[in-house]
Amino acid sequence: MKILGIESSCDETAASIVVDGTTILSNVVNSQIDIHSNFGGVIPEVAARSHIEVINPVIDEALSKANLNWKDIDAIAVTYAPGLIGSLLVGNLAARTLSIIKNKPLIPVHHILSHFYANFLTENKPKFPSLALIVSGGHSQIVLFKSHSEFQLLGETRDDAIGEAFDKVAKVIGLPYPGGPSIEKAAKLGNPNRFKFTKPRLDNPYDFSFSGIKTAVLRQAQELIGKDFNFPSFEIAPLLNEQDKLDLAASFQNTVAEILVKATQKAFIEFKPKSIVLAGGVAANSFLREKLEQSLPIKVTYPPINLCTDNAAMVASAAYFLNKKSNPYKLEVIPSLPLSKLKNK
Ligand code: KG4
Ligand code: ZN
Repeated sequence: MKILGIESSCDETAASIVVDGTTILSNVVNSQIDIHSNFGGVIPEVAARSHIEVINPVIDEALSKANLNWKDIDAIAVTYAPGLIGSLLVGNLAARTLSIIKNKPLIPVHHILSHFYANFLTENKPKFPSLALIVSGGHSQIVLFKSHSEFQLLGETRDDAIGEAFDKVAKVIGLPYPGGPSIEKAAKLGNPNRFKFTKPRLDNPYDFSFSGIKTAVLRQAQELIGKDFNFPSFEIAPLLNEQDKLDLAASFQNTVAEILVKATQKAFIEFKPKSIVLAGGVAANSFLREKLEQSLPIKVTYPPINLCTDNAAMVASAAYFLNKKSNPYKLEVIPSLPLSKLKNK
């Protein structure tokens, strides 16, 4: 079964064709990073406009790269939630329109679930029950997948997503957007033990909170330049010396990695999963990958970097395995739909 996936929930316009949820025939991603890096973050209106400009060419390219025509496509899958409303709408309207005029079934996909399905596009496909750490710019969850149709949300962030914390810390210390890769690079030259940031204690051991750590980095940076908490965050970077920046990046990355590792270790002991997978944009972080691998008794698998960050191949894969069709005349986008609210067996 060949599914055309479409993804536009944030700042990537993507289309991909995947066979039987596992084999990628084409995977086209138009990233808006260059546009948004001028602002240090995603501007929703700019993102939506850029999606409109490229959505049709991106879909055409996915078909031509796969060497296929519309008659070869069995279904269309699209991210309908969660995400930026304007961005979601563009992919959604494209998918609904194509579903109607090309007479193809339409399969809506939840973005967080699709990140887990990126792992089915690799050689190490998750075995159920599978413990998934889904960490990206908009989400941070630990989920136990018992089967394709049944999952248990063990915990999630109470405030900022981890990728958001990477992006905000990078901004304070003057590293370019997106913050995750910049912090990872800087951290390689920094001392991860120089600064100790207090880790939050939450009643659910699988919940996270990254907002306090982000603020702790800000306070530490203000202190290093001899200023108090009133000093504006955007004026700090030029006053910090290079080694302080590198050490802040390394200490921050080390602290958040320790938090994720601890929660994953605990979940492994409690739920005894057959596989552990890492997913989402922050799964691209090699420091986190290494720390997890060193501290867990079974192999931790993760997708290649281009399938960690937003893409449409993972949407097409999730659609194949979950296969819940929707009426193309009625499908609505839902900008805020946490996993905890998603219907599941
Ligand atoms: O999954 P994704 O592309 O979009 C969302 O669904 O949010 O994730 C983007 C996030 C950004 O916050 C980015 O800084 C982070 O993933 N990221 C990383 C790395 N590469 C991307 N974070 C840490 N280390 C990386 N190497
Ligand atoms: Zn994502």
